[in-house]
Amino acid sequence: MTAAHARRIGATFAAVVVGVDLRSHLDEQTAESLREMLATHGVLIFRDQRIEDADQIRLISAFGVPHRSSFEVTTGANPFLIDITNVDAEGLPLPRDNRYALYMKANEQWHSDGTYNRLPHAVTSLHARALPPEPPPTQYADTQAAWEALPARRQIELEGLVIEHDRAWSLSKVSPEAAAAHSDVNGRMARQPLVRTHPVTGRKSLYLSSHASHVVGRPKDQGISLIGELIAHATQPHFVYTHQWQVYDLVIWDAALTLHRATPYSAANARRMRQGAALLPRPLIDD
Ligand SMILES: [Fe+2]
Repeated sequence: MTAAHARRIGATFAAVVVGVDLRSHLDEQTAESLREMLATHGVLIFRDQRIEDADQIRLISAFGVPHRSSFEVTTGANPFLIDITNVDAEGLPLPRDNRYALYMKANEQWHSDGTYNRLPHAVTSLHARALPPEPPPTQYADTQAAWEALPARRQIELEGLVIEHDRAWSLSKVSPEAAAAHSDVNGRMARQPLVRTHPVTGRKSLYLSSHASHVVGRPKDQGISLIGELIAHATQPHFVYTHQWQVYDLVIWDAALTLHRATPYSAANARRMRQGAALLPRPLIDD
């Protein structure tokens, strides 16, 4: 195997990895090199990976314990992977008011996965199994570059703030129907630090999400306004990498230094992405 290496593709982060066939066993040296690359670049893209479910799980395992999803739309075959799609099992477009379609709509907001859980996602991967002729891109924002661009005085004001993340909050911003269709998630909340430090590189980042509902200890409207302002700052075009999907792309990203969002897609052609993730091994905050 050619030694794996990363070629930067975004302005400040995101890289294409070459020299790795994800169908093969990942030896410890390769796994360590991939962990370093992910910590450095935040988003890794592997092109033309004709992999099976087991290969995707093997890759995730290099970064943490694969997460068994509680989401009801699984592939059916493997509890560690879910399908991100616009069609049902028969290939027919999902109705706009479908419970799952409303959930996917919420992913068009800038977010980090699972921040409403005490153990949020550490890494998430997506594998493009079937794409329409003009696939909707996925966007990523570099929350380390965003933090580093803030004036020192502002950084001092922000450090130490704790944010409440609430699953129902991000759904309520889609529509009352989306919130109602997912009323079972009410009460899924967790506190996360606003600023986190990457365990490998030591770089700091803004840790935000569409689920971030308010700032602990501050009036709600002030918190909403601060969170909105910081997400707008972090997702300015110069911090964003837009991934244009090709079939069989495998993209994996590190939640410690990225925000991401889906982009709207309304055509009937099938889009099927397989998602697998690993959670953080321990909470970022004691509460
Ligand atoms: Fe997501």
